[in-house]
Amino acid sequence: MDHLERITDEFTRQAQTFEVWAQNVDADVDKRFGGALGKAARGRLIDVACGPGVVTAALAPAASSVTAFDATEEMLAKAKARCAKAGLRNVEFRRGDAEHLPFADAEFDGAVTRAALHHFADPQRAISEMFRVLRPGGVAVLADVISSEGTDESRLHNAIERLRDPSHVRMLPASELESGMAQAGFRDLQTATWDMSRELEEWFSIVRDPARVEPIRTVVRALAEDGRSAGIGLSIKDGRIVFFHRWFLIKAEKPGER
Ligand SMILES: C[S@@+](CC[C@H](N)C(=O)[O-])C[C@H]1O[C@@H](n2cnc3c(N)ncnc32)[C@H](O)[C@@H]1O
Repeated sequence: MDHLERITDEFTRQAQTFEVWAQNVDADVDKRFGGALGKAARGRLIDVACGPGVVTAALAPAASSVTAFDATEEMLAKAKARCAKAGLRNVEFRRGDAEHLPFADAEFDGAVTRAALHHFADPQRAISEMFRVLRPGGVAVLADVISSEGTDESRLHNAIERLRDPSHVRMLPASELESGMAQAGFRDLQTATWDMSRELEEWFSIVRDPARVEPIRTVVRALAEDGRSAGIGLSIKDGRIVFFHRWFLIKAEKPGER
């Protein structure tokens, strides 16, 4: 199975449970992304790996247009239904690979992506594609869960994530995301970080694969009991395994005329 097949396989099965999580995970989604985009929020936008379209639908009311782009048909169907229900008529839905965006150079004023970079086989390529399709002066806003700057903790965290969801590639440390943006050509980087506490059983329930759960639960509990935090505060509280996901947002500009 190639990586994109693994992605569509996983997110076809997760579409329903993931949508519920995605619409509740951030009460400030419109302010967070709309605010970071600034004036670009009123222009032509692309939501890369849009999933069920929560960010798309939050941005569309102020935008001239939004292209909701994803590899998984079931996710695009969810995004379409969400936008139709909200009466949004300025959203176009396209299927494809974020590492090969089927758009001309400089087509967009703003590009956003949430919770997706860690699924890309080559995140640097996807960042460079976002840079390419933005006009000079355009703005990118990337938000994803990050891992520890410590190599061992980052490796352990990512191993746990991959056991739960094999379409996960790697949550990057913040420093790598920042250098990747700079390497693609982005300038004027601004960042924000926030933590979201999670509970293991709730996190497992999203992937809808009971066969995976028991062995991961055993391994993660053993790690927590051993005091291995994996850079995500892994611990046991009142018998429940808890941890946090650290979110990182980068806003950056493509240099050039506005
Ligand atoms: C964790 S979900 C995030 C969805 C959405 N951005 C959100 O925050 O609600 C990841 C999404 O990325 C999509 N995806 C993963 N790899 C992709 C790729 N290479 N090209 C396009 N979409 C991809 C999946 O289909 C899935 O819908």
